[in-house]
Amino acid sequence: MEGAKRNPADELLDLVRSLKSQIQSDIDAGKTPTYLHMKAEAAADVKSTGEKSGVQILKPSRRTLTLGDVKKELGDCQRCPLGRLRTNIVFGEGNPKAEIVFVGEAPGGDEDIQGRPFVGRAGQLLTKIIEAMGLKRTDVYICNILKCRPPGNRNPRPEEIAACEPILVKQLEAINPRVICALGTFAARTLLKTDVPITLLRGKFHAYHGIQLMPTYHPAYLLRNPGAKKQVWEDVQKIMKMLSGQIAQ
Ligand code: URA
Repeated sequence: MEGAKRNPADELLDLVRSLKSQIQSDIDAGKTPTYLHMKAEAAADVKSTGEKSGVQILKPSRRTLTLGDVKKELGDCQRCPLGRLRTNIVFGEGNPKAEIVFVGEAPGGDEDIQGRPFVGRAGQLLTKIIEAMGLKRTDVYICNILKCRPPGNRNPRPEEIAACEPILVKQLEAINPRVICALGTFAARTLLKTDVPITLLRGKFHAYHGIQLMPTYHPAYLLRNPGAKKQVWEDVQKIMKMLSGQIAQ
């Protein structure tokens, strides 16, 4: 009957039928239906819409935060005294949709000059590690706990970490990777909120807000202790297995 309110069960049935035929016609046309690409977490993270039609349609929610937003928020940061001392902020770089994010400690001299993470000697070693994983630097995202260089490359201070960490948290939220590789003591302890030594943390996956986090030794440590490369390679292989689905997430 024209204008009469339809039974919600019939409307739902119609919706399912039309979705089914849309999927079939995509398949017939040789296309993979885009909604089949949805990651499990995106599928879980759905918002209901379609109130007007009276039918609840589940649509993937859009990522609310972008790296651009986070960079804007960081601005010309003076949240801690390192802001006055830096040449450049080292925000981070790489694929904004990376499946893996490498988090280091803080920029060194080369990074401060270039405004890019891991471009000095330790960075060259990190690049080799990434390439040994069969990836390119542009496939992954690389950033640090601190965005400004501590003078003389001294250790980050708790108040600097406290001022800078919220930016890192938002970067990770914007990227939403499957795996985080925490490079060295400061990255691992800061993200995992623990004082446990890196020697005990490394080699195992830890939970970070639903993301798998693998701590390993910092490339700068490897430059001083090349014997530890074997352990880093073992850690990195676990990451590769996780990314390829050989380890359950
Ligand atoms: N060490 C780090 O932790 N980060 C860099 O960007 C460079 C060296």
